[in-house]
Amino acid sequence: MNMIEARGMRMPKLGLGTWRMKGEECTAAVLGALDRGYRHIDTAQMYGNEDAVGEALAHTSIKRGDIHLTTKVWHENLAPDRMRAAMDNSLKQLRVDYVDLYLIHWPSPTMDLAASLGQLVKFQDQGLARHIGVSNFPSAMLREAVEVIGAPIVCNQVEYHVLRDQTAVLAMLRKHGMALTAYCPLAQGRLADYPALGEIARKHGVTSAQVALNWLLSQDNVAAIPKAGRAESQQANLDAMKFMLDDADRAAIAALPKNERFVNPATGPKWDAVPG
Ligand SMILES: NC(=O)c1ccc[n+]([C@@H]2O[C@H](COP(=O)([O-])OP(=O)(O)OC[C@H]3O[C@@H](n4cnc5c(N)ncnc54)[C@H](OP(=O)(O)O)[C@@H]3O)[C@@H](O)[C@H]2O)c1
Repeated sequence: MNMIEARGMRMPKLGLGTWRMKGEECTAAVLGALDRGYRHIDTAQMYGNEDAVGEALAHTSIKRGDIHLTTKVWHENLAPDRMRAAMDNSLKQLRVDYVDLYLIHWPSPTMDLAASLGQLVKFQDQGLARHIGVSNFPSAMLREAVEVIGAPIVCNQVEYHVLRDQTAVLAMLRKHGMALTAYCPLAQGRLADYPALGEIARKHGVTSAQVALNWLLSQDNVAAIPKAGRAESQQANLDAMKFMLDDADRAAIAALPKNERFVNPATGPKWDAVPG
């Protein structure tokens, strides 16, 4: 499995997203993924499935130390005391002593950014989170966190796929040796039958979803966490790096519209403008 290195964190580039899976469906998907070779699982307090992920972790034969586990604290819980309660509950649901990466799920207009980042650092000092990071941070907010506040965050998890530009966020992350984890890497499944990707896929004898994932995973500092409940999707995503996109493929992908955003809640931040 290809790994990403970011400020001391080593994380498998491909992970399993778990949003919208719950209960037995989620447990079975995580166990199946671990059996197939996945070693990176993404969950969140808000998904309501940490218990199901914990059930899988309790029953897998893979050692805890070999699995990278990410969870996230919801934006209504960013006051330090609420963060502490959220962390305690996540660890209990997940049945683990620590998580590998703990993220602020969304910034909030009412948050005290320095205080919330300070609480993340405490979690790291206490051994409850090996690494800390953020999600859905536009580049200016990321800059404030890293360059003004000096937080030792390693990652920003954002929506990123062939139809979404993330130039500004990527430049800020690369400047500081941090990782971008791409969520909705398949545009919530839409890219599985996107015509322009189909042409590239046919040329290489692969699928459109594999083209979309290959494009992400072949970029420096970029990881991706496709949600895949079906065994065939999980395997296809593991196989997505078994071919190489050529210059013509990359040019065709570069020419696609880059302003699609499929996760855009009213409470979200002011996003970076798309260049051009
Ligand atoms: N930080 C955040 O704010 C945030 C926001 C959204 C999502 N996320 C994380 O990112 C993860 C991924 O995002 P997402 O679930 O919204 O969308 P996604 O991963 O872009 O798309 C998931 C869809 O693609 C299908 N799929 C997966 N692999 C496939 C393949 N090889 N061929 C064809 N179809 C395939 C899945 O089908 P099957 O399941 O039926 O196989 C599912 O319907 C989430 O699960 C969550 O962990 C984070």
